[in-house]
Amino acid sequence: MNGYFLKLFNALVLLLLPAAGSLLGFNSLPNTAEIKCIETEREALLNFKQGLIDDYDMLSTWKDDENNRDCCKWKGIHCNNETGHVHMLHLRGQYPQRLRGAINITSLVPLQNIQHLDLSYNSFKGNDITELMGSFTHLIYLNLSSSYFGGSIPCELGKLTHLKYLDLSNNIYLHGQIPHQLGNLTHLRYLDLSDTDLQGELPCQLGNLTHLRYLDLGDNHLQGELPCQLGNLTHLRYLDLSYNHLHGELLCQLGNLTHLRYLDLSYNDLHGELPCQLGNLSQLRYLGLRRNSFSDETFLISSTSIMNSSSSLVFLDLSFNLLKSSTIFYWLFNSTTNLRTLYLYGNMLEGSIPDGFGKVMNSLETLDLSGNKLQGDIPSFFGNICTLERLDLSRNKLNGRFSSLFDNSSWCNRHIFKSLDLSYNRITGKLSKTIGILSELEQLYLDANLLEGDVTESHLSNFSKLESLYLSDNSLSLKFVPGWVLPFPLQSLGLRSCKLGPSFPSWLQTQHSIYSLDISDNRINDSIPEWFWNNLRIVHLNMSHNNLIGAIPNLPLKLPYRSSIILNSNHIEGKVPSFLLQARELKLSENILSDWFSFSCDQNIVANLAILDLSKNQIKGQLPDCWKSVDSLLILDLSHNNLSGKIPMSMSTLVNLKVLVLKNNNLMGELASLKNCSNLIMLDVAENMLSGPIPSWIGESMQQLIILNMRRNYFSGNLPNHLCHLKHIQLLDLSWNKLSKGIPTCLKNFTAMSERSINRSDFLNRVYWFNLTYYVVYSFIPGDYTFDITWMWKGVEQVFKNPEYLLKSIDLSNNILTGEIPKEIGYLFGLVSLNLSRNNLTGEIPSEMGSLRSLDFLDLSRNHLTGQIPTSLSEIDGLGKLDLSHNSLSGRIPSGRHFETYEASCFEGNDDLCGEQLNKSCPGDEDQRTVKPAAVNGDDCDCGFYEALYMSLGIGFFTGFWSLLGTILVWRPCRNAYLMFLNRVTHSICVWFQ
Ligand SMILES: *[C@@H]1O[C@H](CO)[C@@H](O)[C@H](O)[C@H]1NC(C)=O
Ligand SMILES: *[C@@H]1O[C@H](CO)[C@@H](O)[C@H](O)[C@H]1NC(C)=O
Repeated sequence: MNGYFLKLFNALVLLLLPAAGSLLGFNSLPNTAEIKCIETEREALLNFKQGLIDDYDMLSTWKDDENNRDCCKWKGIHCNNETGHVHMLHLRGQYPQRLRGAINITSLVPLQNIQHLDLSYNSFKGNDITELMGSFTHLIYLNLSSSYFGGSIPCELGKLTHLKYLDLSNNIYLHGQIPHQLGNLTHLRYLDLSDTDLQGELPCQLGNLTHLRYLDLGDNHLQGELPCQLGNLTHLRYLDLSYNHLHGELLCQLGNLTHLRYLDLSYNDLHGELPCQLGNLSQLRYLGLRRNSFSDETFLISSTSIMNSSSSLVFLDLSFNLLKSSTIFYWLFNSTTNLRTLYLYGNMLEGSIPDGFGKVMNSLETLDLSGNKLQGDIPSFFGNICTLERLDLSRNKLNGRFSSLFDNSSWCNRHIFKSLDLSYNRITGKLSKTIGILSELEQLYLDANLLEGDVTESHLSNFSKLESLYLSDNSLSLKFVPGWVLPFPLQSLGLRSCKLGPSFPSWLQTQHSIYSLDISDNRINDSIPEWFWNNLRIVHLNMSHNNLIGAIPNLPLKLPYRSSIILNSNHIEGKVPSFLLQARELKLSENILSDWFSFSCDQNIVANLAILDLSKNQIKGQLPDCWKSVDSLLILDLSHNNLSGKIPMSMSTLVNLKVLVLKNNNLMGELASLKNCSNLIMLDVAENMLSGPIPSWIGESMQQLIILNMRRNYFSGNLPNHLCHLKHIQLLDLSWNKLSKGIPTCLKNFTAMSERSINRSDFLNRVYWFNLTYYVVYSFIPGDYTFDITWMWKGVEQVFKNPEYLLKSIDLSNNILTGEIPKEIGYLFGLVSLNLSRNNLTGEIPSEMGSLRSLDFLDLSRNHLTGQIPTSLSEIDGLGKLDLSHNSLSGRIPSGRHFETYEASCFEGNDDLCGEQLNKSCPGDEDQRTVKPAAVNGDDCDCGFYEALYMSLGIGFFTGFWSLLGTILVWRPCRNAYLMFLNRVTHSICVWFQ
């Protein structure tokens, strides 16, 4: 939508201001004094009005009485001063004023002389642009933009051969293809179809519109290659095809568009070279190629390209392409450039930034090289680019000392320099006091480097405009003299791990504009002063991992909308104050809160609560029974407390809940109250005293479940067949209960477990599920969300950072299950861990288990299994831990492959087993036992652990990837997104005004 306003703006600048009036012939409004409107046209207008809903009386003059008979005087109407025909109907809405209702074009048909029709900025949801529109053949100007029109573009519009201006943009319900008949509108100068839902290829007939000055087809779903006929549009000044799915190479015919000033092809899938003909675009000021697939070759080959003659280029955006080597810098050197804005972020640029860069780029105002792999010392020449205002080198591998920035540099730009971002590099040394010469600085980001030493008031006292200061994750210590007042009004402050403690930073008391504050992990050993809460305008607050003590009083405060309060891992005691429940996210885990708060049932307080984490406290008493008012809750973690009593019925109203963790409390009773929580992807009620049967509705109504943990309770009865409906389930733990009867054969329906590897789209799907919570909740909150689960892994409880996508496990151990192990278990090809130990299972081990090639852990011990160990088990190469002990197995232990590496304890307690592992020869064996090398494989028994570790590393990679994406999406949104938007706007303004 931002793009939309921009386009609108450009449209205004291009057409309406200088040229449109005379172009369209409307600037001398006719003197209608003597002209009376034509009766049939008056009736037509009144009929047209009938269908409209006019909430704001925009059509108050359209009346059928004596005083208002002359429709030429009605608002929005102009008539021809000689014939009296209506030639202009201009009903543009103006927020909030707008028309609604039904457009009856049939009723307008009598207005046969109409030349100008503008219905833009209204709300005609449900109305199509009808083919009748094609009957107004005198139209010169047609504007139906931003009015929620739907349907497709009727090909009859191709009959409006006098049209000079056509704007159907920003109608998100408008779909279908661009009709090739639009190619008949050979007088068109302005065509805007952007921000709609158009598909298909660009019709080559658009090439007939040789008078076009402005063409905007951005923000659609257009496909295919650029038609070479685009090269016929030699009068174009503005061409925007961004945000489509166009592919292929850039056309050399684009070089014909010698009047072009603005060219935006961002967010497509274009690749290949920049054709050297682009060098003909001598007026080009704006070139947007962001997020395509342009690579180094693009710029190697086109050495004589665009920039040579395009000294007019002011704005160049090549971010999110595939640029790797620093070729691009030399390409820029060879160009006599007037660039003011250069975006190269999100490429893969390596090597160092060449020294000559600063000399050539001597008109640069904004430079963004973030998110590459740039190395070497951080160059000092940026201070010699006297026009530079914003510099972003974050997320590279730059090193060198911070002070070297000020070594050889005059900082001739110090009176305009506003933003410096060096975060996420490897910069060393102290924060030098010389940074104070950048007195106009508004944003300073130095977080996640290797800086050390003290930061005192002398470093910061020269700044007066600083709004954002990020020093997190270095080895810096902040030490201000008591009573010092920061001379700048901060809005966001990131000081994670900055050794602020031991007392609570009192200088915060004078800062009243902070909306984002991170002082986590700062060794603060103090209580939170009351002034802090009273001052609170903070939307994002993180004070976790300190030693904050005392209780938080329940103050009558109003928190900012959708705030995020993170106070976990402190020593906060007492009750949970209910004013904090106004937050969108509240994390208080790992404190010593003891009292279950008077959980607020007030809808006004809890209406926005989406994440509530009170785990690992000492909260006792019953769960409150008023969850109805918290229906926006997505994640609820109350694990590791002393909660008792039943799960209250009102929890059934948490229909949006995705994650519910009640683990390790003293909850009793049945699960009945969770029946309606059908969106759960994770349900963990382990280690309580819950009882009753496993409800069959779990399989029916919770089909999204990926993780189900009911371990260590008193659940009884059989395993219902309905469980098999859980086709997404990956982690199923029902161990340590009193479950009886057989294992259902339908478990082959656990689809997610039957996939060994995860195909990409499926994977993305799952990531989507897990990231949904992340995304939904965090799309407006900076920072990463880690989602930990603790899971029994090989008999040891382990924490997995972020949920597993590959870890697939079934644990039914320690129950009283009977019957045979169903051979259908062999379908769960993706299973990594299977524990059926300590039951009463009988029969043989199904040989189908040999197909579980992903298996790393298999425990069938302490059952009554009989027969031989199937040799197929020895084909599971990755099986790191096997336990078959204490059964009634017999015969020879398979000897193939790695099977010999298992210890005797894996087989003991089976009287009739024999084989090398047990040091026991089988009947018929000659006494030819070889001496087994001792303990050679001692480590191998644990190889599964490394595998699990590896696996979670792998997961780490994936989630890392996603949190990177997430970070790009959400990271300091107020900074980047807003800046980008501003850049787009301001630069296109420059393009047109300079
Ligand atoms: C009528 O309008 C035209 C322009 O549309 C103008 O040239 C002409 O002078 C006007 N005539 C009168 C009588 O106002
Ligand atoms: C549209 O207008 C025509 C002509 O005035 C009329 O006959 C018709 O009933 C109207 N249609 C609707 C749906 O109101």
